[in-house]
Amino acid sequence: MRAADIIIKKRGNPTPQPLTKEEIQFMVDGYVAKTIPDYQMSAFLMAIYFNGMSFEETAALTDCMLHSGEIINLHGKENLGLKGPFVDKHSTGGVGDKISIPLAPIAACLGVQIPMMSGRGLGHTGGTLDKLESITGYKVALSPQEFEQLIAQNGYAMTGQTQKIVPADRLMYALRDVTGTVESIPLITASILSKKVAEGSDALVFDVKYGSGAFMKTPAAAENLATSLVKTAQAMGKKAVALLTDMETPLGLKTGNYLEIEESLECLQGNGPKDVMELTYALASRMALLAGKVASIEEGLELCKQAVNSGRALEKFLKNVDDQGGDSKKLLEQQGKRRSPFHAQLNAESDGYLKIDAYKTGIACINLGVGRNKTSDKVDADSGIILSKVQGEAVKAGQKIMDVYAKDEKSLEEGVAALKKAVSYSKTTITQNKLILKEIK
Ligand code: URA
Repeated sequence: MRAADIIIKKRGNPTPQPLTKEEIQFMVDGYVAKTIPDYQMSAFLMAIYFNGMSFEETAALTDCMLHSGEIINLHGKENLGLKGPFVDKHSTGGVGDKISIPLAPIAACLGVQIPMMSGRGLGHTGGTLDKLESITGYKVALSPQEFEQLIAQNGYAMTGQTQKIVPADRLMYALRDVTGTVESIPLITASILSKKVAEGSDALVFDVKYGSGAFMKTPAAAENLATSLVKTAQAMGKKAVALLTDMETPLGLKTGNYLEIEESLECLQGNGPKDVMELTYALASRMALLAGKVASIEEGLELCKQAVNSGRALEKFLKNVDDQGGDSKKLLEQQGKRRSPFHAQLNAESDGYLKIDAYKTGIACINLGVGRNKTSDKVDADSGIILSKVQGEAVKAGQKIMDVYAKDEKSLEEGVAALKKAVSYSKTTITQNKLILKEIK
């Protein structure tokens, strides 16, 4: 087999041909083993980007990537308290998307065991690991033994991916990032799913976002990705569902690393913003349904509410904070008080109905210190924004829209300038998108 022939077959001569599993395996294995250089893998990825892949090719690519590294198996460990089924949630990323943090303890209260492996912020979107690390002492790099023990004890644990999980994705993702080949449905499907399957979940709930702050800008594109994720996961023997959810405007009132931990705490204390609660409950109840812990979504929603109202979900979250090296007492003491000293207030510049663009807010938050411009950048725990008004609300000129916090004076200036461009004022009322547009099963 020759890499050049496989690239030509996918590129088309004259028309592209579907690849066999052996050909896909040759490319993936060769790239990990370094017998296929970056330039050939780049051409291969670009050919996929332009010509797509059939469902069978996507499943083959996912399987080849999955087997490039370690695969965690949580089964057969009932003696440790790992009973399963193991269910995880994956969001395709957004601004203010802290859902995993309140969701895991709530779903764990419903009896689901959750091996949650999360990532860092990517582009304008935030990352669960960066948020968790804003809790002083919280350790996100658990050993496999610690990970298993904590899931058995408390129903869930939160960790990052190790170097050994899907090395093919680590290498291919870095290359895609710099060759304009990220936004491809088969490549995104194989990237996300190979990692999720390697992490040992039996079932997966996907939150596929659409809108300015999402990678998929339209509902149609998000639906294509959701269908590809669900069908490919099912072909790999996993139960899966996806929700298509709105990311035109930031989720919740707080965006930032520590600020999103604080908002998660509020959710678990029964004071969470309506959109964050609705989405958290919708996803957690589907996790419980896939795990066979409830008979219907309605039952799941009811049990989610009870888990929060009884304080059990909060207790589970605080136990997880202590178990993973944080200090839950200190976290509670800091609530509402821990703020960066580099602060400004953004006021409405004119009367109107407020629009807050998620993508532009995410970019502005990078300026403040929340995210990274390059992978080597460090994120700041305490920068971010707290909204006083949300999209669709009527505001008067001079009224406060948000508090802005930055890592230093210069970042504050740049961030505020960028945030001014993220907000606009409509003379007419704004039709709000539905938070949950559709379910794909
Ligand atoms: N997230 C991933 O893990 N992979 C992609 O390709 C895109 C988003």
